[in-house]
Amino acid sequence: MTRIDKNPSGGRTGNAVEVRGLVKHYGTTKALDGVDLEVREGTVLGVLGPNGAGKTTLVRILSTLVQPDAGTAVVAGYDVLRQPRQLRRTIGLTGQYASVDEKLSGRENLYMIGRLLDLSRKDARSRADELLERFSLTEAAKKPAMQYSGGMRRRLDLAASMIGRPSVLYLDEPTTGLDPRTRNEVWDEVQRMVAEGATVLLTTQYMEEAEQLANELTVIDRGRVIARGGVDELKAKIGGRTLQIRPSDPAQLPAMAQAITDSGLDGLAGAQAVPDEAMLYVPILSDQQLTAVVALLGERGFAIAHIGTHLPSLDEVFLAITGQKTGSESDIALEEAAA
Ligand SMILES: Nc1ncnc2c1ncn2[C@@H]1O[C@H](COP(=O)(O)OP(=O)(O)O)[C@@H](O)[C@H]1O
Ligand SMILES: [Mg+2]
Repeated sequence: MTRIDKNPSGGRTGNAVEVRGLVKHYGTTKALDGVDLEVREGTVLGVLGPNGAGKTTLVRILSTLVQPDAGTAVVAGYDVLRQPRQLRRTIGLTGQYASVDEKLSGRENLYMIGRLLDLSRKDARSRADELLERFSLTEAAKKPAMQYSGGMRRRLDLAASMIGRPSVLYLDEPTTGLDPRTRNEVWDEVQRMVAEGATVLLTTQYMEEAEQLANELTVIDRGRVIARGGVDELKAKIGGRTLQIRPSDPAQLPAMAQAITDSGLDGLAGAQAVPDEAMLYVPILSDQQLTAVVALLGERGFAIAHIGTHLPSLDEVFLAITGQKTGSESDIALEEAAA
């Protein structure tokens, strides 16, 4: 799967979505407990969080379907509370659970939504056909949606969210429950929409998905933002890279590890020799450290067969931030990560 060329600034500076201090409580459940976030125009913000983190609540508020208890949210310049009708006209929403009518065909579903959005019969028809084509559903256009595969339904759902030509698109866990191949199909579609200039707020539980699609990430857990930043930035914040060194002679591993540990190189945490893998692991924070470690080993006469670096996966990052994968208890690490 190819990664699209992301342009973080998009050549623009405006925020398509601005959320400040958003609070929503259900009884004693703090679904949202003071969330701030923004999505810059023409970019994809990944809102990453485990089940129950508050992602759907956020999307519902931003869609005017649920009213917040406190805080403000502005989408495409429209306030969710004061300008709900204008706001609804500028957004598209794809939910975790498909919103298509099972009995209607793909084409009928899209036509009906077009009519609900006040398109004329003619425009609704042509828009439906255009989107069926675009999402490779033309052949299945006349079949009832209940006969569609999981991937086809998600594509129909994406098509439905695009009917009103939204400038801001919310994708709430668009690939949850899909098999890997179908997930890739949906990713491809999302990347196409982004390449065409859509602004997207994407919620997901999958690190890989955020990594594939998002420019920026906001990590939420139990209604609170626990970290934010670019994918690489977030990874670097959590731990930086690991330098992997394979010596030509595995017997030299302990001596190499000792040499690095004794070197007193600035900010270096030390080295770990793993004899089973015939590999030396050195956590590094900069290119300078990488160069210095390799130079040091060369000076001491150690021969190196292979060098590599490894960035932590987003799964590892999320684990490091939350302490666990879902509903974490470790707030201390979180404050640090969010700082
Ligand atoms: N309508 C509701 N009534 C009561 N509790 C709700 C309602 N909607 C969400 N919640 C609770 O709020 C929390 C956040 O839910 P949700 O926003 O759906 O999280 P996510 O989409 O990240 O899984 C959960 O604990 C959930 O049970
Ligand atoms: Mg949800």
